[in-house]
Amino acid sequence: TKPLSMSDFAKEVNKPITEIIKYYFSQGMMLNQNTTLSDEQMGELALHFGFDFKKEQNLTKENIFEQFQTPDKPEDLKVRPPVVTIMGHVDHGKTTLLDSMHNSNVVSGEAGGITQAIGAYQVTSKSGKKITFIDTPGHEAFTEMRSRGANVTDIVILIVAADDGVMPQTEEAIDHAKQAGVPIIVFVNKMDKPGADPERVKTELMRHGILAEDFGGDVPFIYGSAKQKQGLEELQETILLIAELKDYKSNPNKFASGVVLEAHLDKSKGPVASVLVQHGTLNLRDVVIAGTTHGTIKDMENEVGKKQKTAIPSQPVLIIGLNEVPHAGDKFLVMNDEKVARSIAEAQLHQFVERERSNKQIFTLDSIKTHI
Ligand code: GTP
Ligand code: MG
Repeated sequence: TKPLSMSDFAKEVNKPITEIIKYYFSQGMMLNQNTTLSDEQMGELALHFGFDFKKEQNLTKENIFEQFQTPDKPEDLKVRPPVVTIMGHVDHGKTTLLDSMHNSNVVSGEAGGITQAIGAYQVTSKSGKKITFIDTPGHEAFTEMRSRGANVTDIVILIVAADDGVMPQTEEAIDHAKQAGVPIIVFVNKMDKPGADPERVKTELMRHGILAEDFGGDVPFIYGSAKQKQGLEELQETILLIAELKDYKSNPNKFASGVVLEAHLDKSKGPVASVLVQHGTLNLRDVVIAGTTHGTIKDMENEVGKKQKTAIPSQPVLIIGLNEVPHAGDKFLVMNDEKVARSIAEAQLHQFVERERSNKQIFTLDSIKTHI
């Protein structure tokens, strides 16, 4: 193939060139629009921006560029479940809420199958619609993922204990949700406790710009108890109402791409990663590149340990077959050529190492501040 300049590339994939320049800048590289991009760089951009590859032809290092998929046609987009993250102060009931919703949803007998943390799972509501919950690994991880461009969540549930009110991490969660620009639903938890004071919670949240409907705002407030399983149905119906309004859609008919939620090294299985599929359909035997790692999917399981042959948009799955353990927040992308995947992963790894090395000499605004 003829070498491509960054500006030609930007035109072909329908992205503003400034975004590509900005991306490289954030990686510590000053590239301009006349820079010629290597195949590896194009693959890296594909991974970062989520460009897809066509399924029809064989991907080679020579034709990698021609293989980028054009943007989705509206008729190819299908409704997908909303992806929800629960955030709130320590001990306000995040885990209990997730567990209560999951347990009342898992068929008895299946419950024992939950052995590994997958970091996310799907719940089927009474109306038969699915919701994907991300078990947030903490605010820091959420911020880290977002700073790397991985927007995993559609809706944030802000959980506040009715007997404790707004606390420092509640405030942090509000900031994160606002920065992400996603709708917020407030779940006022622990209503079963004698000290519960929901009016106080409402007033305190108002001071932070979270306005309940009866205060003239548009943030849904749901009152309940994660422990006593009260208000859970209402919470789910509210999530689904927002999902219907927002009309979350994705194209399932292409190579899968998405984000790594968690990963670890299993003694017998090797690197295990839980991933959230955001576009396309992930299949057993697919060749995947995830951050600086790559491999062929040998095994795929859902959140209750059931084997899966495919995973569709908004579905979280555990995958086995990567050569190394990827990082939470890494993007993943399916390609149909193992050699190309390996060369892109290796090029990224090389860059990563270089960056780490040079980062040590770069002063950031924060590091300067701490030195004053
Ligand atoms: P961290 O993960 O440490 O941030 O806490 P968390 O937000 O996940 O809180 P968790 O679900 O662990 O709940 C903390 C404590 O509050 C536990 O002892 C729960 O049993 C209790 N709890 C959670 N929800 C309720 C509730 O609705 N009512 C009552 N009475 N107790 C609750
Ligand atoms: Mg917890």
